[in-house]
Amino acid sequence: MAIAQESPVTTTAKARAGDPCVVVIFGAAGDLTKRKLVPALYNLLTQKLLPDRFAVIGVTSAEYSDAEFREKLSIDIREFATTKVDDQLWSWFDERVRYVAGDFQDPNLYEKLKVSLAAVDKQQHTSGNYLFYLATAPQFFGEIIGQLGRAGLTTEENGQWRRVIIEKPFGRDLDSARALNKEIKKTLDEGQIYRIDHYLGKETVQNMLVFRFGNGIFEPVWNRRYIDHVQITVAETVGVELRGGYYDQSGALRDMVPNHTLQLVAMTAMEPPISFDSEAVRDEKAKVLHAIQTLSPEAVLTHAVRGQYGPAMTDGKRDPGYRTEAQVNPQSSTETFVAVQLAIDNWRWAGVPFYVRTGKRLARRVTEIAIQFKRAPKLLFQEAGIDEMSANMVVMHIQPDEGISLRFSAKVPGPTVTLGAVNMNFEYSQYFGAAPATGYETLLLDCMVGDPTLFQRDDTVEAGWRVVEPILDVWKALPPRDFPNYASGTWGPSEADHLMEREGRHWRIIG
Ligand code: BG6
Repeated sequence: MAIAQESPVTTTAKARAGDPCVVVIFGAAGDLTKRKLVPALYNLLTQKLLPDRFAVIGVTSAEYSDAEFREKLSIDIREFATTKVDDQLWSWFDERVRYVAGDFQDPNLYEKLKVSLAAVDKQQHTSGNYLFYLATAPQFFGEIIGQLGRAGLTTEENGQWRRVIIEKPFGRDLDSARALNKEIKKTLDEGQIYRIDHYLGKETVQNMLVFRFGNGIFEPVWNRRYIDHVQITVAETVGVELRGGYYDQSGALRDMVPNHTLQLVAMTAMEPPISFDSEAVRDEKAKVLHAIQTLSPEAVLTHAVRGQYGPAMTDGKRDPGYRTEAQVNPQSSTETFVAVQLAIDNWRWAGVPFYVRTGKRLARRVTEIAIQFKRAPKLLFQEAGIDEMSANMVVMHIQPDEGISLRFSAKVPGPTVTLGAVNMNFEYSQYFGAAPATGYETLLLDCMVGDPTLFQRDDTVEAGWRVVEPILDVWKALPPRDFPNYASGTWGPSEADHLMEREGRHWRIIG
């Protein structure tokens, strides 16, 4: 069932364009730059949200001239832009692109960068504001920031700002995340550090705050009295593709849980902030993450499930198993699937399990948060032979289709009392039209205007690692004996189903 079409009533807060600035991208020849960052900057330009006084400097170790680098971006944008590229707009962007080559560990690179920044600043009047984007391998994060600091490029004076966006992974466990925080804070204040989690750039994730706190009817029932459990699925159909080298050292738990998945938990479970001020919002998210019970080693065995995909035939085509993927150890015990039952120890959520699962080569690409409510307290329809009624459920559909649905029971028309579970669906694209985007637009713009609300703070990154740390420890001590334990194209190992079934619950069937 779809809701009747009507024009949405919108209440607008007008976005302001970013401050004048130079965006310096370290790792500018990589995948992220061509697939996400440049298309996102281009989308901001089309929406008049890029500042007029603007420039981009790409930095990598490859020897490109400015012209060659521009040429590369011009080819890439035509492949990866989310909308048709307007030649006039692109040439405006293109004129503002520069390139600096060098080794990230070599102080000379930073001297060259300083000269280039000063020149660009003068030409484009960018007011000395620099946004450094670290789209590099994680081992360079600390090094680059230290070098930027030593070159005097992170000092904020005379009203200029200097900000650094750091990609994930932020550490590979709690100790390394703490060490990295400590290292970068020798150079930067917390206010200059923007730890990105691209899930927070997704519309429906942000919409969770509006849905919960911009409406009067949901929040009163958003708690342990009315909610039975929450299940969060972050499923991908792709395998590890060209990232086998990284992934085999990381695994699904590190790759997806302390960051993206726990951010979804936090958005679902946080208390209303006292305002939408960045610290107020991030304080509430931090509180929830801190309230997640860490699992004892025994509980890890019963509350966390790991899996690795094996080969499968799909439509007459053989999908390789994980162990035969490029750059993966043929005996690898790295997990490509994880499901965990979490508990949040606070008044709102005591006794309400949060089940999360994520994995590669699963049956469908889908990310969603399903909130299942308790059943009606009295089975009024028992006399009519109805012993069980389906529970109400709110589902936040995050991708690929963005929207919200509400499931409830309705009477099937006819002379007998028969109940059917029906869905009321709201689809973003139907109401607001589809605005193809990369998901990085909001985050880049927020950094350019100095709004860190949707970025991770030092304490929330560490809190995420604290939750997964016991699982990492137990899994390291007890290598899996049954890998591969799910076939590519399925919903993961059967133990993930048992996790819920032993408590009389089941994963939502995602058709
Ligand atoms: C990244 C992970 O952070 O998120 C990848 O490293 C994963 O392994 C990706 O594929 C998923 O992002 P999205 O936006 O496609 O769901």
